[in-house]
Amino acid sequence: MNSLISSSFLPRFSQPKVSSMTTQKSPPTSNNINIIANFPFKELQERISFHEPLKKLMSSTAERIKLMISQPVPEQLATVDDDKKKNSLLASTFKSFDDFICDFMDIPLRPFIDPKHVLSGNFVPVGELPPTACEVVEGALPSCLDGIYLLNGPNPQFVPRGPYHFFDGDGMLQMIKINGGRATLCSRYVKTYKYMLEQDMGYPIIPSPFSSFNGIMASMARLGLSVARVVAGEFDPVINGYGTANTSVALIGGKLYALGESDLPYEIKVTSDGDITTLRRHDFHSAEEFLSMTAHPKTDPETGEVFAFRYHISSPRLTYFRINSHGRKLPDVPIFSMKNTTLIHDFAVTKNYAIFNDVQMVISLCEILKGKPPMRVDLNKTSRLGVIKKYAKDESEMWWVDVPGFNILHTVNAWEEDDGDTLVVVATNLSYVEQTLERMDLAEMKMEMIKISVKMKEILLRRQLSNRVLEMPVIHPTYVGKKNR
Ligand SMILES: [Fe+2]
Repeated sequence: MNSLISSSFLPRFSQPKVSSMTTQKSPPTSNNINIIANFPFKELQERISFHEPLKKLMSSTAERIKLMISQPVPEQLATVDDDKKKNSLLASTFKSFDDFICDFMDIPLRPFIDPKHVLSGNFVPVGELPPTACEVVEGALPSCLDGIYLLNGPNPQFVPRGPYHFFDGDGMLQMIKINGGRATLCSRYVKTYKYMLEQDMGYPIIPSPFSSFNGIMASMARLGLSVARVVAGEFDPVINGYGTANTSVALIGGKLYALGESDLPYEIKVTSDGDITTLRRHDFHSAEEFLSMTAHPKTDPETGEVFAFRYHISSPRLTYFRINSHGRKLPDVPIFSMKNTTLIHDFAVTKNYAIFNDVQMVISLCEILKGKPPMRVDLNKTSRLGVIKKYAKDESEMWWVDVPGFNILHTVNAWEEDDGDTLVVVATNLSYVEQTLERMDLAEMKMEMIKISVKMKEILLRRQLSNRVLEMPVIHPTYVGKKNR
């Protein structure tokens, strides 16, 4: 259990249990344990898989495999452990001022940044869980299964004192490891610089670009407080980053990483006993300044080569790069034709091209001066798709084509047809992009297909594939860049 979380706030649950297909004696188990109440088993099934047999098992026997949880979810996270707080006069002064901002300067919290609303229901934060054997109460897990199911997602270490956005939480990895007919459940935070620093301090100190800027007075105060903390040496976001690594996991150069697009990936390791450890923040031996990368890099399933990008608040606003199969980053390809800093969350690759969506979600630090988050939606901007050769050394041959109102968060896949003359992109478009940052539930992501002529550099076809609203679709990694149904 996380020592900073009061046990009174953690539910006490019975041991996790797994039902399977045929009767078998339960495997050895530990003593009474605490287990997370809202373990996202369904999400875990749907979102991430590394092992095909395990994926099939999860899909085909979903009705027969379930975690038996007998207690209600906790109503709130732990309060800060006072013994952990640093007592330097400067730190105490900063902390007091932070409390003052929350108590007297924040304007009333709108639902999307009100932690009472955001961290409710299925999003109630949970504590860490050491490797814990799941009791098989019915049937047996096939002995041929050997793999892990791993989910990453935001889960705040501390009770938020002020505004909190769904994207703010510290990355928590939740994993089921199946091996030798046994299942082991484990939940661990990604031990980022932010997590470790705030654990040491005893309270959160790094501001959030999504929620910290709430009204002019509070925004200015938080901006000033953060600058003062950096100047005083309380934290150093330039050297150490400030990300939460809460978005995804990926295999790069044969190693496993937790990723979030505001920072570099963190290398993690799954131990033989089913635990998860964080090894280090990793720059892939970059020879250039390298402070962040997308949480959705694309790996060539045949070569292991990785294609990725990052966006930045100053020029070049977009940078494309590759990481070779040995985990070494290759030289940057700066994209100067990207005129605005744009929230590009994902991209697509085909056999010969990388494709970027210049969306209407833009980032401007000037927004903070207006008391607003730096991300906003610019409905006057025309969305574009940018096409660059996958092995380009610069952007000289890159070209853009307007696709009005096309705003993606996630690409499903892209591929080439007509001997490479046509590019096909399948992605979910945000029907109401203006809702994305505040009410994602109203943004309505719907699947679209776009065909682009490489010779003519124009859109050949654009159509909606389904009227159903999807969330964050991905394609199985072995199909990345290849035609799929
Ligand atoms: Fe994503």
